[in-house]
Amino acid sequence: MADKMKVEKAKGKLGILLPGMGAVATTIIAGVHAVNKGIAEPIGALTQMGRMRIGKRTTNNQPLIKDVVPLHPLKDVVFGGWDVYEDNVYEAATKAGVLEADLLKKLKPALEKIVPMKAVFDKEYVKRLDGKHIKKGKTKMELAEKLMKDIADFKKANNCDRLVMVWCGSTEIFMKETEVHKTLANFEKGLKENSYDIPPSMIYTYAALKMGIPYANGAPNLSCDVPAMVELAKLTGTPIAGKDFKTGQTLMKTIIAPGLRARALGIDGWFSTNILGNRDGAVLDDPDNFKTKEVSKLSVLEESLEPELFPALYGDLYHKVRINYYPPRGDNKESWDNIDIRGWLNYPMQIKINFLCRDSILAAPVALDLALFLDLAKRSGMSGIQEWLSFYLKSPQAPKGLHPIHDIFKQLNKLENTLRYMVGEELITYLGQDYEV
Ligand SMILES: NC(=O)c1ccc[n+]([C@@H]2O[C@H](COP(=O)([O-])OP(=O)(O)OC[C@H]3O[C@@H](n4cnc5c(N)ncnc54)[C@H](O)[C@@H]3O)[C@@H](O)[C@H]2O)c1
Repeated sequence: MADKMKVEKAKGKLGILLPGMGAVATTIIAGVHAVNKGIAEPIGALTQMGRMRIGKRTTNNQPLIKDVVPLHPLKDVVFGGWDVYEDNVYEAATKAGVLEADLLKKLKPALEKIVPMKAVFDKEYVKRLDGKHIKKGKTKMELAEKLMKDIADFKKANNCDRLVMVWCGSTEIFMKETEVHKTLANFEKGLKENSYDIPPSMIYTYAALKMGIPYANGAPNLSCDVPAMVELAKLTGTPIAGKDFKTGQTLMKTIIAPGLRARALGIDGWFSTNILGNRDGAVLDDPDNFKTKEVSKLSVLEESLEPELFPALYGDLYHKVRINYYPPRGDNKESWDNIDIRGWLNYPMQIKINFLCRDSILAAPVALDLALFLDLAKRSGMSGIQEWLSFYLKSPQAPKGLHPIHDIFKQLNKLENTLRYMVGEELITYLGQDYEV
C-alpha cells in the first residue's frame, strides 16, 4: 500500500446548498429523496453506482467507489438554497416539468418543506428573469454578509456537520476577468464599492469560500474561476471546482473528439445545434447570456484537439455552436452534430449525431457527485482548484498557465487515481506490469 491521506470520517449531516432552485436543483433534490425512499435508482452518479479497479489486474477487484472512499451517505444529506422565485421545491419541480407528476406526488411532503431563501440577484446580469424574491442591501459586501448569515442559520437549523455549495443558478451575461478579480484585496474593495464586475454568482462564491464551504460552479459564469477566488479558497482551505456541468452535447464531444485525435483522423468542421425549451433555454435566448455559454462550449474542441500541434489535421477546423429556444420541448433537449472528418489520403467522411437527451436528468447526478466529492476533498485537507473533478465540467478550471484536460478518459483516470491516492491504494498508470509474474 502507498502512503495514505488523512481523511476525516463523514459524520453527522451534510447540507448541500444550491443557489438557483430550478430544473437541475429540483431534479437532484427529488432524485435523492426518491433514492432514499427506495423508489428510484441513482443512475449516472459515479458516487452511487460507479466501480473502480483496486490492485493488480489479476485479482479482478472492482469494488463500488463508495466502498473505497468514505463518501457521505445519501440518507444523511439535507438540501437548502436560494431562488428569485418563491416556489417551494415541489412547486418548482412541477413547473420545471422534468420529473413525472406521479413521482413528485410521492415525494410531496418532503419537497414542499424546502423553501428557497431570498436570492442575491440583479436583472442586469440575467435580463430574462424578473423574480421578486430578492435580498436588499446597500453594497455587495452587505449582500455577501446576508448570505453568510443565511448559511449559518441553515447549518444550525438543520443540525449539519458540514456544508457544500453547488451553483445551479442561471447563466449570467458574458464577463471577462478584470482588475477587481485579480486579488482578494481588490475583490473585497469591489464588494464594498459595488463594482459592476462582481455579478451575483460571485457574491455567493465569496460567501461560501469565506466560510470554508467547498464550492462548485455548474454554469459557465466566471464565479470561482478568477485569481481572487482561488486565493480565498487557499486561504480558507477550501476545495473549488468550475465550471459548467458537462452533460449533453459537450459530453459527447469529449468522448468522440479524443477518440478521433487518438487515431490521427482529421476534422474540418463540427457543427452543433440544439433546441431547448426550459427556463435555461429562455435565459440563453438573450445574446449576452448565450455568449457565456458559447465560449464555454467552444473551448472544448480547441483545447482537446490542440490544432497548433496538428496543423494538418485540425488547423482549419470550423466549429460552430447554436442553441435555439424552442418552448414545446421543455427540458427534453435535442441536439444535432455534423462532423466533417478526413481519413487516409485526405478522403472526406461524415459523422452525424442526433442526441435526444434530458438536460436535467444528465445534470443532476453530475451536481450530486460534485457535491459529495468536494466534501470528501475538504475532509481530506485538499484546497483550491480540484482538477480531478474536471471529469464533470465543460470548461474545467486549471491552475494558471496550464491547459485544461478535456479528454473524458484521461479525466476519469485522474479522478480514480486521486481517490486511490486518498486511501493509500496503488495508482494505476497502465505502464508497468500490472499483474504478478
Ligand atoms: N441542465 C444541464 O444539462 C446543464 C448543463 C450545464 C450547465 N447548466 C447550467 O446550470 C444552471 C441551471 O440550469 P437549469 O436548467 O436548472 O436552469 P433553470 O432556469 O431551470 O434554473 C435556474 C434557477 O436559477 C434561478 N436564479 C437565477 N439567478 C439567481 C440568483 N442570482 N440567485 C438565486 N437563484 C437564481 C432562476 O430563478 C432559476 O430558477 C444554468 O446556468 C445552466 O446553464 C445546465
